[in-house]
Amino acid sequence: MPLDMIIGAQWGDEGKGRVTDLLAAQTDIVARFSGGDNAGHTVTVQGDIFKLHLIPSGIIHSSVTCIIGNGVVLNPAVLLREMAALAERGIDVSPNRLKISRNTHLITPAHIALDKAKEARRGNEAIGTTLRGIGPAYTDKTSRVGLRAELFANPEELADQIQAHIAEKNEVLTKIYGAEPLDADAVAADFAQFAQQLRDHLVDGPVYLDKALRNGRSVLAEGAQGTFLDLDHGTYPFVTSSAPTSGGVLVGLGVGPGMVGRILGVAKAFTSRVGGGPFPAELDGEMAERLRGSGDKPWDEYGTTTGRPRRVGWLDLVMLRHAARINGLTELFMTKLDILSGLNEIKVCNAYQLDGQTIDFYPSDIPSLSRCQPVYDTLPGWQEDIMTTRQLADLPQNAQNYIQFIADETGVPVTAVSVGPGRDQVIHL
Ligand code: GDP
Ligand code: IMO
Ligand code: MG
Repeated sequence: MPLDMIIGAQWGDEGKGRVTDLLAAQTDIVARFSGGDNAGHTVTVQGDIFKLHLIPSGIIHSSVTCIIGNGVVLNPAVLLREMAALAERGIDVSPNRLKISRNTHLITPAHIALDKAKEARRGNEAIGTTLRGIGPAYTDKTSRVGLRAELFANPEELADQIQAHIAEKNEVLTKIYGAEPLDADAVAADFAQFAQQLRDHLVDGPVYLDKALRNGRSVLAEGAQGTFLDLDHGTYPFVTSSAPTSGGVLVGLGVGPGMVGRILGVAKAFTSRVGGGPFPAELDGEMAERLRGSGDKPWDEYGTTTGRPRRVGWLDLVMLRHAARINGLTELFMTKLDILSGLNEIKVCNAYQLDGQTIDFYPSDIPSLSRCQPVYDTLPGWQEDIMTTRQLADLPQNAQNYIQFIADETGVPVTAVSVGPGRDQVIHL
């Protein structure tokens, strides 16, 4: 069976969690391959809202096995809290159902303290990170000094490595950032507890997944973040420290490209971004407030992880074409079409004006991107509430035209649109 992928095609929060939940119904294994608890994935099941940060969204389906892959950075304290919250709601999070790849890197309190200190030091140039320790944990991984989940099976080695890690980070925290040092003994004691509770979840990720795929089981890779937060392909340095793109799936799970099936890009019917960095089609004023919502509805544009109001703008097809290119998207799933109901006209950014020239591609350098002005096409809107619509033919003609326009301009078929957060609020095309 193939490895299918769900990839954020914008700046995150496209609705990957809800799409994963939908596809998980026909999947055996759901895997996270990148990021950590910077992710916030919302799944709504018959009015019940689940907010997942580290555990794959497939966990809500009792028939699905979940795995946290090697590309993830894992904060064990957050994972255990998330497991406890799910268990309280009757969801089985035993080692049978939730596995952790042995070579997954760990986030410690020192990584979080460093993330905070570095962001504070950046002042006006702050990235606007989620302060979850993501960047410092990936920095340790690439510097080859990271701590891996395999240590959960070796308490003595874990204690030694935590002591050395905290001692080294305390030097940086106190001498470079003037921050408070951490108590190495306390951190070591906490991690000894975490190890006891999590060691039975450890597996050899690539071997486990290879065997599953060869035995005919299906695997779904659940993206976190989005294409334009990718360390290489995003709006560097206003990005995260991992590869949320399709290439990241292969590295982050240890599965070969021959196994890949569908590469499904998830995009909102407009654009949102949380944190700093360029955003060519960004809106402010009344239309921004209209798209963001006032915060009274669960799906309004406020961060699942940090609660920050998200920046919003019209749909940017220059970005979607770039996402299609980089990820090799085979299809698009468009979410939140319902939010556009009631507008007389809808704008779509289809090119940029850069230094007097019109370009239809996404410049990879920030200085150019920051000078890009959006060039809009204007499409007629629709007034009808579409949240109860379930068939393409029942959508207002202008909504159908909007979907077709996106497919035509990106060259990627739109295979589904969602018109509300609920499991059933989906139109398959
Ligand atoms: P993720 O990080 O990509 O999983 O997305 P988030 O969960 O952070 O943000 C998406 C938000 O939009 C969540 O509150 C979802 O419940 C909500 N949502 C997803 N699809 C739809 C949709 O079609 N319509 C509406 N109104 N809300 C949606
Ligand atoms: P999901 O999976 C939206 C953003 C942060 C910041 C930048 C770097 O829910 O789509 P980090 O803490 O990763 O070092 O922050 O990346 N960011 C996200 N934005 N959705 C996410 O995840 C994000 N994860 C990180 O806001 O701008
Ligand atoms: Mg999110």
